[in-house]
Amino acid sequence: MALQHLSVGEIVVILPAATAVFRRHKIDFCCKGDARLASVAEGRGLDLAAIEAELHALESPGVHAPAEVPDLIAHIIERYHKVHRREFPTVIEMARRVESVHQARAECPRGLADLLSRMFEDLEDHQHKEEAVLFPAMISGVGPVLRHPIGRMMQDHAELGELLAFMADLTDDFVPPDDACATWRALYAGCSKLDADLREHVHLENNILFRRFL
Ligand SMILES: [Fe+2]
Ligand SMILES: [Fe+2]
Repeated sequence: MALQHLSVGEIVVILPAATAVFRRHKIDFCCKGDARLASVAEGRGLDLAAIEAELHALESPGVHAPAEVPDLIAHIIERYHKVHRREFPTVIEMARRVESVHQARAECPRGLADLLSRMFEDLEDHQHKEEAVLFPAMISGVGPVLRHPIGRMMQDHAELGELLAFMADLTDDFVPPDDACATWRALYAGCSKLDADLREHVHLENNILFRRFL
């Protein structure tokens, strides 16, 4: 199959394990899922043939997406909304510790704790709207009237995507200094996990769930 003509969002739907390949190449498959693979590669100067070869080599299933809307929504809440709520406070706490202990070092991720706090606050507000209003409406079967609220949720997702890019910059793409302490390492591993989970979460909503109502 010629993957280059498909959008990156479509590729992740048919080949869920592609999320790992796209994250490695910093290709945004969740908020900018409509872009075709060939144009993304051209715009970024990436080796299209090499990326296609990596995608064709994928076999293992990646992001799990149940077929029915109520099951998909239940999965999104259990696997992503609840997991973000559990993990963000720990990562924010570690960021505060690292920033205060290592403030004199050039590699110190200054502003990371505040950035994570803002992300978590925005996300809580966003997830609450999905859980209280949008998802129940989807389950009850109202269709076209959801275009506007879905558009607002997708706008939130795009803003989250910008904050994720900022987090990757602050943490040097989640690579701690060679001599970093255990907390610093755990912090960057936690940030990388948040990044992966948030991108999968947004992908399931933008490219699979929301499309059924647009
Ligand atoms: Fe969500
Ligand atoms: Fe969302």
